Amino acid sequence: MAEFAHDTVVPYQKSALSKKEQVATMFDDIAFKYDFLNHFLSGGVDVGWRKKAIRQLSILQPKQILDVATGTADMAIIESALLNTEKITGIDISEGMLEIGRKKIDKLGLSNKIELINGDSETINFADNSFDAVTVAFGVRNFENLEKGLSEIKRVLKPGGKLVVLECTKPKMIVIKQLYNLYMNWITPAIGKLFSKNRNAYSYLNESIKKFPEGKNFTSILNNLGYKNTYCKPLTLGTCSIYCGEK
Ligand SMILES: C[S@@+](CC[C@H](N)C(=O)[O-])C[C@H]1O[C@@H](n2cnc3c(N)ncnc32)[C@H](O)[C@@H]1O
Repeated sequence: MAEFAHDTVVPYQKSALSKKEQVATMFDDIAFKYDFLNHFLSGGVDVGWRKKAIRQLSILQPKQILDVATGTADMAIIESALLNTEKITGIDISEGMLEIGRKKIDKLGLSNKIELINGDSETINFADNSFDAVTVAFGVRNFENLEKGLSEIKRVLKPGGKLVVLECTKPKMIVIKQLYNLYMNWITPAIGKLFSKNRNAYSYLNESIKKFPEGKNFTSILNNLGYKNTYCKPLTLGTCSIYCGEK
C-alpha cells in the first residue's frame, strides 16, 4: 500500500496507487457528470470566475496558451472566445476528461484553435520558453507535487509570460464560513454521490481545499520559485481566488 504523509490528501485513502494515479482514476470515473456537477454545485458562478481569471491576460494578449489540468476544456474554450489567441493547448492526466473536452471542442468548431493532449503538469512535454501564458483552473490542488508542477510551468513560460491560477479557497467571515462548511461537508458530497455515484470524489474536493496552502501561502510558494509580480485576488466572499505570477 502507498505511504502518504499525514497532510497528503488523496481520493482513496486505502488505495495502493500514487496520488497522481488516484486523481486520474477519480476524474476518469466522474468525467461524464463533471460539467453538470461543476456548474450545479457552484450555482453557475464558476463561469464568471473563469472569465475574471482569463481577463488577467487581457493586457498581455497571449498568442500561445497552455491550459494545465484542462479537464473538459472549459478554460480553453472561454480563452478562445475572450482572447485573440493563435493556439491553446490543454494538458491533463485524465483521458476520460479529455475525451469529453475533445467532443465539446469539435462541436464548437474550435479544433483548429484548441488541442488537448494527455500530459502531466510535473513533467510538461514542451521545450523551455514555449508559451506566452499558462492557466490552471481548479487543478493545482490536485498536483501530487505542487512545487514541481509550478516550476515546470515556469520553465515552459516565455520570459515575461504570465501564470494565472484559479483555485477554491475557504471563506474567512464567520457566518459565511459556517454556511460554507455545512455546504462542503454535507451537501456537496451527498449531491456528488447522487449524480456521479462517487462520494469519495466530492469528499476529496472538500478535504483537498481544507489542506491547500491558500492566499499569501500560495503567493509565497510562487515567489520562492522565482515568479515575479505575484498577486492574489479573492472572489465571491473568499470562496475562490485568482493567483498570478510572471516569469
Ligand atoms: C477539478 S478538475 C479541473 C478541470 C478544469 N481545469 C476545469 O476548470 O474545470 C482537475 C483536473 O486536474 C487534472 N490533474 C490533476 N493532476 C494533474 C497533473 N499532475 N497534470 C495534469 N492534470 C492534472 C485532473 O485530471 C482533472 O481533470
